[in-house]
Amino acid sequence: MTDTIKKLWPELDWIGDMELREKTAETWQRAFEKSVLKPDDLEKIPFTLLCGPDLKVSFMAHKRCVVHLAKESGETMNRFFGKELPINMDVLIAGAILADVGKLLEYEIDSDGKAVQGKYGQYLRHPFSGVSLAEECGVPPEVCHIIAAHAHEGDLVKRTTEAYIVHHADFMAFEPFKKK
Ligand SMILES: [Fe+2]
Repeated sequence: MTDTIKKLWPELDWIGDMELREKTAETWQRAFEKSVLKPDDLEKIPFTLLCGPDLKVSFMAHKRCVVHLAKESGETMNRFFGKELPINMDVLIAGAILADVGKLLEYEIDSDGKAVQGKYGQYLRHPFSGVSLAEECGVPPEVCHIIAAHAHEGDLVKRTTEAYIVHHADFMAFEPFKKK
């Protein structure tokens, strides 16, 4: 794992399985190799292009918030439901960290230096490109499932418990901005 990825995602340390942690970090590394964006850009660009030009919340602030929400939700559900609804915390956290990794391929930089949706992103939204990147790096299917099913595309999929948590964490940290 490179220092840049470690610095960007301190939450990688929450993944106990070292192999999964490494593959999750590798997927982000691979995404940067293919993207016009640099790690620093993610602290500046807005987390979505769907909420207008005034949105100030950065890509990383949103992504990290979703990972924290997912972890705390998983822990709470494990505490109350125990064996009735077991949650794999490593799978949950890796899936939350990777849910939007494909967005790095959705952007292009326009002539004003602003990040905009590019042609690739119009054809393949990030749930698809994210799975493609993750599979390249050997990320297991139960984690790729979370990437695939986290957004509205996943409404037609029978989500796992971990995928439900990431989906709701993502939307609760997104929809209030959309309604503003
Ligand atoms: Fe997403």
